[in-house]
Amino acid sequence: MTGLFITLEGPEGAGKSTNRDYLAECLRARGVDVLLTREPGGTPLAEKIRELLLAPSDEAMCADTELLLVFAARAQHLATVIRPALARGAVVLCDRFTDATYAYQGGGRGLSRERIASLESFVQGELRPDLTLVFDLPVEVGLARASARGRLDRFEQEGRVFFDAVRSTYLKRADADPSRYRLVDAAQPLAQVQQSLDRLLPEILERHRG
Ligand SMILES: Nc1ncnc2c1ncn2[C@@H]1O[C@H](COP(=O)(O)OP(=O)(O)OP(=O)(O)O)[C@@H](O)[C@H]1O
Ligand SMILES: [Mg+2]
Repeated sequence: MTGLFITLEGPEGAGKSTNRDYLAECLRARGVDVLLTREPGGTPLAEKIRELLLAPSDEAMCADTELLLVFAARAQHLATVIRPALARGAVVLCDRFTDATYAYQGGGRGLSRERIASLESFVQGELRPDLTLVFDLPVEVGLARASARGRLDRFEQEGRVFFDAVRSTYLKRADADPSRYRLVDAAQPLAQVQQSLDRLLPEILERHRG
C-alpha cells in the first residue's frame, strides 16, 4: 500500500481547514488511515517557525528570510511527519504546501519562480503532492471571512494587490497541470463545496489503492 499526498490550497478564508476536516471524516468512514496536518507547521518545531512567520512585528521580514523559514519548517515537517506517514500508506491531507510558497512568496512577494523551484528540489527531492485541491474565491470574500475571525496575521494584513497575485498564481498553476490540480469553487455555500468533494472521493480512493 502506498500513501497518497493531498494538499489543500487557497487564500485565507477559502475553507481549506473546514474542508480538510470534512474530507478526513469521509475517508476515515471508509476505513482509510488519514493524517491531518498543516503548513507552515505540523511539528512542534515547525509550529514555532509558523509563529515567527505569522506574527506582526516592528522589524520588517525580508522576503528571502520568509522564504527560507517556510522551507526550514517544511524540511522538518517532511522528515518527521509527512514522509513517515506516506511510508506507512496513509492518506496525508495537508492544509497548504509548496503551492502556497509559489503563491505567497512568489506571486505576493515577487520572488522568482526559479528561486522557489531550487529550494523545492533541495528540500523535497522528487516529492510532490499527488493531488492538490485549490479552493478559489474572490479576494474580498476570503478577506471578509478571515477578518470575521478577529485579529489579522502578518499575511492577512497585506493589501488587495498582494491577494490578487496570490489568487492568479494559484489559478495559473492549476491550469498548467490538470492531472494534479482540482479547482474548487469556494464561493459556493459550504454544502455545495462538500458535494464537489464527495464527487472527488472515488478518484481519491482509486488513487490510494492504485
Ligand atoms: N463555503 C463557505 N461558505 C461560507 N462560509 C464558509 C465556507 N467555507 C468556510 N466558511 C467559513 O469561513 C471561515 C474560514 O474557513 P476556514 O477556516 O476553513 O478557511 P481556511 O481556508 O482554512 O482559512 P485560513 O487560511 O485563514 O486558515 C470559517 O468561519 C468557515 O466556517
Ligand atoms: Mg485554515
